[in-house]
Amino acid sequence: MNTNTKKILLIISGGIAAYKILDLIRNLKKKNYEIKTILTETAKEFITPLSIASLSQNKVYENKFDIHNEVEMDHIALSRWSDIVLIAPATANLLSRLASGAADDFITTVVTASNKDIFLVPAMNVEMWNNKATQENIQKLISFNYKFIGPAVGELACGEVGEGKMSSINEIEKTLEQYFFGKDKIFSNIKAIVTAGPTREYMDPVRYISNESSGKQGYEIAKKLYESGFNTTLITGPTNINYPKNMKVVKVTSAKEMFASCQNELPADIAICTAAVADFYPHFESEKIKKDQLENEYSLKLNKNIDILEYLSNHNQFRPKLVVGFAAETKNILENSLKKLQKKNCDWIIANDVSDKSIGFNSENNEVTIIYKDQKTEKISKVSKSEIAAEIVSRVINNIKVNHAKNFN
Ligand code: CTP
Repeated sequence: MNTNTKKILLIISGGIAAYKILDLIRNLKKKNYEIKTILTETAKEFITPLSIASLSQNKVYENKFDIHNEVEMDHIALSRWSDIVLIAPATANLLSRLASGAADDFITTVVTASNKDIFLVPAMNVEMWNNKATQENIQKLISFNYKFIGPAVGELACGEVGEGKMSSINEIEKTLEQYFFGKDKIFSNIKAIVTAGPTREYMDPVRYISNESSGKQGYEIAKKLYESGFNTTLITGPTNINYPKNMKVVKVTSAKEMFASCQNELPADIAICTAAVADFYPHFESEKIKKDQLENEYSLKLNKNIDILEYLSNHNQFRPKLVVGFAAETKNILENSLKKLQKKNCDWIIANDVSDKSIGFNSENNEVTIIYKDQKTEKISKVSKSEIAAEIVSRVINNIKVNHAKNFN
């Protein structure tokens, strides 16, 4: 039990799972949380404002944008009062409205005005959860930095079985306790940025040059850093994989955008550059280049993009304490990778043999060699990209603990 009061603005939307929230309120009160609640009209069909007020011993607001709410506490003040916003259950409809940026009732206005972390606890039928529009909304909400708890897989209220079940009250509590008081908090002040995926350099509105890269290895590293408690930002070029939940995700297209986003994230303590950044960009024609107007040969003039890894490694004011690069090589792997490490001045470079199709690009597995600044090498034999990420992050943690502990108190 903690003694430090945290304030939760709890928003209950209308799903059958709403009835379970009374237990959540009771448990959180026992743990010394302060809770104010807003109920949707539909939620009132499942639980009453009176029962919530009795358990939370606090004001329950209705989802009406009216003078009573505003006089009591206006929507801005309410969003500032809380340490987090918790929306449980979050229906498909509410997710859709939040993804579209709606601000047309008390709840959506409070949420859009909030400057706090917002946790969504979805609960719905499995088909509604898998519905393409819902999944697109989820991806949008993740990229807007909403945090998700669940949903779980199990038997749903409608009798069907699948993903969509609201996470258990125990799971919600555990997530909140971890968020506010977790042991991993020792790393919460340590900021990590990870670049991932390819960049695209457009020559006209439909054509671009790019690099081969699925983004998988970078996403897995970002996930492991986040799970270890680091304040993690993933800066990603276009990929076909779902964004990892609960961390800050910045979507970019070109190398220039990736560079600007990295600059925006400084100062940072750790930078891991896994992105396959296009080394060159063509001049951009705003209208589509018509091939009939071109000769049989068409040469493209390319300009060099800035090297983001090199920029970060040599930053005179905000050089991250640990800068890690990746080297995609097809021959003389170790020799070329070491040259890159030295040229770019990073601390480690992770050498990847991309000529082997069973590892590297687009495959599930990887095999890498970490080359350290002192030229020591360490091979991580073929395992899944998620296991490679775990191995790398465990070494990041050791490095931080050994070399920089005093800087992270
Ligand atoms: N990198 C970067 N910005 C660039 C190019 C590369 O940040 N404009 C980073 C990559 O994210 C990776 C490392 O530099 O961490 C090495 O990238 P790689 O493509 O292997 O090598 P290049 O530096 O592009 O050199 P080359 O293509 O000649 O091998």
